[in-house]
Amino acid sequence: MLPQGQGAPTGEGKDGMTAPIDLVAGARPNFMKLAPVVRALKARGGISFRIVHTGQHYDPGMNDVFFEQLSIPAPDVHLEVGSGSHGAQTARILERYEAHLLEHRPAGTVVFGDVNSTVACALAAVKLGVPVAHVEAGLRSFDRTMPEEINRLLTDSIGNLLLVSEPSGVENLRCEGVPDEKVRLVGNVMIDTLLAELESARALHMPANLGLVPGGYGLVTLHRPSNVDDPATLARLLDLLMELGDSLPLVLPLHPRTQAAVARTGLTERLQSSRGLKVVAPLPYRENLGLMASAKLVMTDSGGMQEETTVLGVPCLTLRENTERPITVTRGTSRLVGNDPARIRAAFDEALAGRWPSGGAIPLWDGHAGERIAHAIARWVG
Ligand code: UD1
Repeated sequence: MLPQGQGAPTGEGKDGMTAPIDLVAGARPNFMKLAPVVRALKARGGISFRIVHTGQHYDPGMNDVFFEQLSIPAPDVHLEVGSGSHGAQTARILERYEAHLLEHRPAGTVVFGDVNSTVACALAAVKLGVPVAHVEAGLRSFDRTMPEEINRLLTDSIGNLLLVSEPSGVENLRCEGVPDEKVRLVGNVMIDTLLAELESARALHMPANLGLVPGGYGLVTLHRPSNVDDPATLARLLDLLMELGDSLPLVLPLHPRTQAAVARTGLTERLQSSRGLKVVAPLPYRENLGLMASAKLVMTDSGGMQEETTVLGVPCLTLRENTERPITVTRGTSRLVGNDPARIRAAFDEALAGRWPSGGAIPLWDGHAGERIAHAIARWVG
């Protein structure tokens, strides 16, 4: 687990008197969004901040390695909540972050993305009258069976400053009656991290390290409840992946949630003996990016990877029926293929044959979202 900072905020305050803002992160997809904001706030100066880690993700491979690779300072505060059911985990974060707020009231709380840490810390803060900014606001899959959709809806409905990554988010918030003055279209901060790390990621020669040829393999990730929680669905997907692996070698970094589901399904041995589907441990940021950048195609249920493949121009078969990131479909390289084997196989063949949209540049996904977010935060707390 990461060492905790010694209490002093990580950022430089103007006069040492102003209350800092809290930047809250808890789970893997938060870290690549936090890093550029930390960098931009430091470069800008004048705003003091503390990094609060909830501890939702805690394995070194899901957590520490991201802090190291992305040069994120060690958290000033660690809530150490760990895993649990949604209710238990959210409640623990709420309770522990509230206790922190009562002792060390910040000028504002900034939350990222759509994980349980996002909604829990937003709720704790707003109930104590601490204003909340939400990075990656406004995204909607319109699928309330997804835990993340509930987290997004609740966080946006109580947030004070809503920082949006793509135009659909602005439209969604408008339809929900959110006043325009709360909303800023700042672009996609995760792409700042991608552009900053791409060269180092390529230099790792990840395909060669795994005995693969650039452009001659696919990268697969799976962890959504809709794909992994039902044993029959998971078994069908894994059977298909093993079959597809015979035409194109596939690499599958296994998320802990998926690993547990595979073990429950009794498929661990079959998976290990597959020739075409290579299972590896969850990858650090650069290693994953290096593999993604040279892949022939990606198959994933991750929201972030839909966006990253769009920027990289790599075909992405999104193993979901909907997406809260529609621009990756309308202007990017992602296609929704669900989890029905026949549909996935047909899309896989299309992508292999090169019949796939190449996508185009997306405005404000330009490597400078962190600076725009820092600017918006400065005006907000100012
Ligand atoms: C969470 C997010 C999801 C995000 C994903 C990325 C929510 C509701 N979901 O899902 O949006 O896409 O992170 O990874 O917040 N575990 C470990 N080690 C860890 C963390 C978790 O082994 O460091 C295992 C535990 O068994 C845990 C399970 O993974 O119960 C799920 O972790 P959890 O944080 O509840 O949700 P994720 O599936 O990771």
